Amino acid sequence: MKLTIFIVAAAAALLSVAMAAAPPPGQQTATGTDNLNTTTSTVEGPNITSSDAASFIFLPDGRFPPNFTFGGMLDPNLGSHDALSAGMRYAWPMIRDDCGRFVRRVKYCFVNEDNKTALRHTFKEAIKSWRQELGEPSAESGHNLQFKDVGNPYCYANWQNERNPENWQDGTDVDALAVRIERGTGSAYGTLGYQFALESAPGRHYMVLGDDHVGRAAHEIGHVLGLAHEHQRSDRDQYIEFRCNKLKGFSDAKKRAEQAAEFDVDYKLCNYQDFAIKYGFNIATQYTRGLGYLTTHDGADGFDYKSIMIYLSWESADDVRCRLNAEHCPLAKKGETGISAFVPFNERPSSRDVAFVRQFYRWVPQP
Ligand SMILES: *[C@@H]1O[C@H](CO)[C@@H](O)[C@H](O)[C@H]1NC(C)=O
Ligand SMILES: *[C@@H]1O[C@H](CO)[C@@H](O)[C@H](O)[C@H]1NC(C)=O
Ligand SMILES: *[C@@H]1O[C@H](CO)[C@@H](O)[C@H](O)[C@H]1NC(C)=O
Ligand SMILES: *[C@@H]1O[C@H](CO)[C@@H](O)[C@H](O)[C@H]1NC(C)=O
Repeated sequence: MKLTIFIVAAAAALLSVAMAAAPPPGQQTATGTDNLNTTTSTVEGPNITSSDAASFIFLPDGRFPPNFTFGGMLDPNLGSHDALSAGMRYAWPMIRDDCGRFVRRVKYCFVNEDNKTALRHTFKEAIKSWRQELGEPSAESGHNLQFKDVGNPYCYANWQNERNPENWQDGTDVDALAVRIERGTGSAYGTLGYQFALESAPGRHYMVLGDDHVGRAAHEIGHVLGLAHEHQRSDRDQYIEFRCNKLKGFSDAKKRAEQAAEFDVDYKLCNYQDFAIKYGFNIATQYTRGLGYLTTHDGADGFDYKSIMIYLSWESADDVRCRLNAEHCPLAKKGETGISAFVPFNERPSSRDVAFVRQFYRWVPQP
């Protein structure tokens, strides 16, 4: 699943490219691509302004400055990669539930009746896969994360698209995550974390699924909670091989950039999000180290191959040989012997994904 996320100014659209190659036997197809527009909803969404994006502390090539301290937070000691630590996106706010308990609630709704019928089961199962790893919110489980359908009965009175917040349904909380399906694109995308900016902007949190796959929906839920892609950690090159030229669309984008007399094309297509987008290579934005415009945080436990937030090796692979040999895939584990191995499709949250939730959605003393 590619997915992604963020706000602010960058927009990249990742239209997704469904993989041409069928997945290897026994594997699910790669998930679609996250759509950076979304991710970047400043540009595309309801008027989200760049005040939301506080400070961009990335160096021009997307690396962190050497002495960057991630917003001054204590290192939460996680192996995750998140967009919350620096305070540019937030955990879902605390509320009091019907039992009077303080919980952090992800409010969601389906955009309309058809979409609810189509997605209700998938979405519930995806929530369940997190719930099974996390346990119910309680002092024992250590987290207070709750999900609730707050549609009245749907997000929109008349859904047209995410740019029409004026059609939001009266009585549905405006900060609810608007969930819908867009079949046939092979892509899934959604917003990252919670955005306080535009307190009143309905439709600013959303998730679009390309199919009914529960594992892909669970990956998107990771983004909704604030997790970024594990393979975009700043230290990822120690753990994985990223072969950018094995991504679909690389050669065409390279031709376009060379025709435009650009320099350092290979490097820039793979490392500069804006450059990749300019030449129609949006998929690269889902692989750059860091998220470009949004400050992210690498948890300290190191790279987590089991994270639900990492793409499988054959995601967006251009070379069919990737089906049999990880050396031909865009993403592969670095082998101890120098031979690379497949990154599998992790369909369930890992223990470090769960640790992230316990950190940011921590159970608090109750009234
Ligand atoms: C994403 O943004 C680009 C640039 O604004 C736009 O051309 C594209 O249609 C958008 N894609 C989607 C899926 O909204
Ligand atoms: C978005 O900004 C435009 C231009 O400033 C303004 O006309 C429009 O009313 C704004 N829309 C919302 C939903 O705030
Ligand atoms: C961090 O780096 C910046 C730029 O090099 C420098 O101005 C600043 O003093 C450094 N801060 C610390 C705490 O070292
Ligand atoms: C979701 O809603 C949109 C907008 O009405 C519609 O075009 C689409 O067909 C719906 N999808 C499903 C699977 O019902």
